Amino acid sequence: MASRWLLLLLLGVAGCGGGVLQVQGQVDSLGFISIDCGLPGETGYADNTTKLWYTPDAGYTDAGTNRNISPEYQARKSWRNVRSFPDGVRNCYTLRSLVFGLKYLIRAMFMHGNYDGVKMWPIFDIHIGVNYWQTVNITDGDMPVIAEIITVISGESVQVCLVNTGSGTPFISSLEVRPLKNKLYPQSDASQALVLVARANIGSDKSIRYPDDPHDRIWIKLPTGYGWSPISTTYEVQNDVNDVFEAPSAVTQTGVTSINSSRPIFFTQDAQPNGNAKDLVPGYVFMMYMAELQLLPSNALRQFYIKLNGKLWNTKTLGLKYLETTVMYNEKPDYASHQYIFSLEATTNSTLPPIVNALEIFSAVPTTGISTAAQEVSAMTTIKDKYQVKKSWMGDPCAPTNYAWKGLHCSYAVSTPPTIKGLNLSSSGLSGNISSSFASLKGLQYLDLSHNNLTGSIPDALSQLSLLTLLDLTGNQLSGSIPSGLLRRTQDESLTLRYGNNTNLCSNGNSCQLAKKKSNSMVAVYVAVPVFLVLMVVLLSVLICMRRKKQGIITNSVRPQNEVINRNGHTSLQLENRRFTYSELEAITNGFQRVIGRGGFGKVYDGFLEDGTQVAVKLLSESSNQGVQEFLAEAQTLAKIHHKNLVSLFGYCKERECMALVYEYMSEGALDKHLRGRDNNTRTLTWKQRLLIAMESAQGLEYLHKGCNPPFIHRDVKTSNILLNAKLEAKIGDFGLLKAFNNDCDTHVSTARVIGTPGYLDPEYNATFQLTNKSDVFSFGVVLLEIVTGKPPLLNDPEPMSIIQWTRQRLARGNIEGVVDTRMHGDHDVNGVWRVADTALKCTAQAAEQRPSMTEVVALLHECLELEAARNHMNAGFYTAGSGGNVDGYGGYATGMLTNVSQSSSAFEMEHLGRVPTMSTGPAVR
Ligand SMILES: *[C@@H]1O[C@H](CO)[C@@H](O)[C@H](O)[C@H]1NC(C)=O
Ligand SMILES: *[C@@H]1O[C@H](CO)[C@@H](O)[C@H](O)[C@H]1NC(C)=O
Ligand SMILES: *[C@@H]1O[C@H](CO)[C@@H](O)[C@H](O)[C@H]1NC(C)=O
Ligand SMILES: *[C@@H]1O[C@H](CO)[C@@H](O)[C@H](O)[C@H]1NC(C)=O
Ligand SMILES: *[C@@H]1O[C@H](CO)[C@@H](O)[C@H](O)[C@H]1NC(C)=O
Ligand SMILES: *[C@@H]1O[C@H](CO)[C@@H](O)[C@H](O)[C@H]1NC(C)=O
Ligand SMILES: *[C@@H]1O[C@H](CO)[C@@H](O)[C@H](O)[C@H]1NC(C)=O
Repeated sequence: MASRWLLLLLLGVAGCGGGVLQVQGQVDSLGFISIDCGLPGETGYADNTTKLWYTPDAGYTDAGTNRNISPEYQARKSWRNVRSFPDGVRNCYTLRSLVFGLKYLIRAMFMHGNYDGVKMWPIFDIHIGVNYWQTVNITDGDMPVIAEIITVISGESVQVCLVNTGSGTPFISSLEVRPLKNKLYPQSDASQALVLVARANIGSDKSIRYPDDPHDRIWIKLPTGYGWSPISTTYEVQNDVNDVFEAPSAVTQTGVTSINSSRPIFFTQDAQPNGNAKDLVPGYVFMMYMAELQLLPSNALRQFYIKLNGKLWNTKTLGLKYLETTVMYNEKPDYASHQYIFSLEATTNSTLPPIVNALEIFSAVPTTGISTAAQEVSAMTTIKDKYQVKKSWMGDPCAPTNYAWKGLHCSYAVSTPPTIKGLNLSSSGLSGNISSSFASLKGLQYLDLSHNNLTGSIPDALSQLSLLTLLDLTGNQLSGSIPSGLLRRTQDESLTLRYGNNTNLCSNGNSCQLAKKKSNSMVAVYVAVPVFLVLMVVLLSVLICMRRKKQGIITNSVRPQNEVINRNGHTSLQLENRRFTYSELEAITNGFQRVIGRGGFGKVYDGFLEDGTQVAVKLLSESSNQGVQEFLAEAQTLAKIHHKNLVSLFGYCKERECMALVYEYMSEGALDKHLRGRDNNTRTLTWKQRLLIAMESAQGLEYLHKGCNPPFIHRDVKTSNILLNAKLEAKIGDFGLLKAFNNDCDTHVSTARVIGTPGYLDPEYNATFQLTNKSDVFSFGVVLLEIVTGKPPLLNDPEPMSIIQWTRQRLARGNIEGVVDTRMHGDHDVNGVWRVADTALKCTAQAAEQRPSMTEVVALLHECLELEAARNHMNAGFYTAGSGGNVDGYGGYATGMLTNVSQSSSAFEMEHLGRVPTMSTGPAVR
């Protein structure tokens, strides 16, 4: 039990992304979030009925005001307060610490109670993320409305938004989040959610919720109907092994039969137009729960059909098992009708009337709206927080289209996330310096920050916005000079820069006279460059760099390669390893007999040292003049660095025409062969093996970035450079392109030509020729994606596409199973895979600064491994989708946990809920 606790905590609060995600603990030990909206103060309370802890909503939204309901409505014990949102069109609650890809039940309750004293009942919409959820129609001050949705979350958080549609002020009383196993309610998936219409505990005068239902669904009592007679048992009713709804026994223990077997049981449900698309009627999903509650004598038979609108709904007649629930349901939403009439009719052979124990009705809503790209959302959130923008910016910045944030201009494509192409914050009262987050909005074409109180200098990072054509900084208090990158952009006329009325800007030097002179005109387009000034600055920084480098040489044991190796490569290499002669190599490789690999520099041969140690001999081919430098660089570097996840060098040969490196032998070859599995002999790597390999190669890279002095950039991270030994331990090889850089001074290494491998190349490097260790992180992200998907970095099916795009597209639709390598045959933990894929996508962020460091990547992978270990240990995973074959999930845990909490509170009294409107639109009984 202890390990389950730990695991649940890990999943619920931290997950694999835990290191990054430091939010307030919103989730309780069951994974529940329970919010009493409008509750003042900071402490919550335990609900008398459920014993669940309800917290105030202050940490979830920064909009709206707390209001108390009118005294005349306070007779009831709960829902004394609401949060009301008189300002702004869309106001949202952000629910954090959720598990990416998991299915959740989210429930909002609305009890108006005439809190505003005007006795006008509002109608408004609620959204889940960027998708319409339902219209809330308050018809009575005393009647709580329940809105409930079962949906798969495609992020670590989700927003519940209240949207003012012009028919009164939105408000909310409570908000509850309950995790479900992914196999439950299979009709709810990444592209479709289920919105509750009715959930009835038939034949009982008790409503049921937590703890009797560990998922805290609310089963509202529906005691009698015309022609019904109640039936019940005190024995526990089981669920079938293939059950995917987990109706609690407390609900299925009661039911109704018709008063005699010649009379059917009827339900009707009218289809209600969807408030979002006024005349469109949504599809409906029905679940009918039936269990035999009587031990029948051998001459008795209870057998019946279920008909929908007069036609057989189930194909066969229904015979029930004693104390075991049978659930009849439609797998696809039914759009067929404006009215659904169900009848349960006994067959002619049946001696007993039909029985039904519980019923659920949902309407299906699409959840295919695409949110704005995560990095743009986080940039906009940073900007919003930094400047305290008062524009009621809430929910997704661009989606849905009608509710895009004011001042934002978004561009929308069919299948890719919307991007921000214009941002107008003119006259918005901004103060402080210009946030570097503006530079993260890569699609930005115009940025208007004019007439604010912005101070400080203009960040050069803005020049990297390659699509930016207009930057308006007029009328601020900016100082310093215009950065060179922006100057270049104005010179080649790709950018119009306005900066008039910034009195402190560029106040000395020639350029500034120009600025002053121009400052009276509305538009000051920068033309002349203070060439001299810029040159001086560049020269100065180069000098400082060189000085620092010199100091570095004295203190560091590794000297920069270019100092050591001259053009011929025949210099005073001082390697610590063994030096081989050509004839020795001939002997070791048995006359260069067996080629085990081919690299850019030549062939790699199999060999054995005198003591029998198997080695790989990498011989530089004579034709490859180009590689001499890199070859020697590799030798030089490898002699110095040692790490268990870097291929080690035993020695080298450097004589006449022979140049060779002798490595440890990696018998299982390169990772790419194992992932692609073209060779029938290679077994498929399991998920755990893949995780270990990812972890080990990440450690190797981290060592290069952090453990070496000076640090190194590998520059050619790819699956064919990750080698496996007999124990499948991963080590990074091929250091031919390795480059050192001095952290103190330069944060990047500039290279004249693009090196590396297509499909793995950092897009920023492609554009700027500047390498940082984040370029390795990018390539490593591609490696992670290959590990998850088994696909090559560049796909051709049906059109050329990078593995990054391919994965993003699928994950945007929440389709994790669609990206996982099918060769693993589903033997993986879905959450672990989500986490790794998510890490990979962070690594492959367009902007280098948004990528994690290798140290962070190692930490993330480490947590994934721990989860996997826990999963294997239990031989069952939490929150596992159908593939895992796990039956012992969240719910089982919750029930086991709570047996000692309260048996007495099983009655969730109707008084507590009042008449529930969801039922009034629900099934009618006849
Ligand atoms: C919960 O129970 C306590 C003690 O029985 C009582 O004072 C309190 O008013 C109850 N609260 C609600 C909301 O019913
Ligand atoms: C709200 O409910 C009332 C009463 O049931 C109904 O007349 C009205 O049409 C509903 N409005 C909307 C927008 O659904
Ligand atoms: C059963 O119902 C039928 C039709 O409603 C009625 O004619 C009949 O008398 C009923 N039988 C019993 C035993 O109640
Ligand atoms: C009713 O019983 C007869 C005789 O046992 C059998 O032939 C028939 O198929 C049964 N009908 C149904 C609907 O089960
Ligand atoms: C930004 O908004 C202001 C005021 O609404 C307007 O005058 C200005 O032209 C806008 N800027 C751009 C770039 O559209
Ligand atoms: C800038 O700040 C000053 C004082 O803080 C204020 O008076 C002025 O209105 C502000 N200007 C703008 C454009 O917001
Ligand atoms: C600069 O400020 C002055 C005085 O506030 C104003 O008259 C002028 O129009 C401004 N110029 C620009 C370019 O905004």
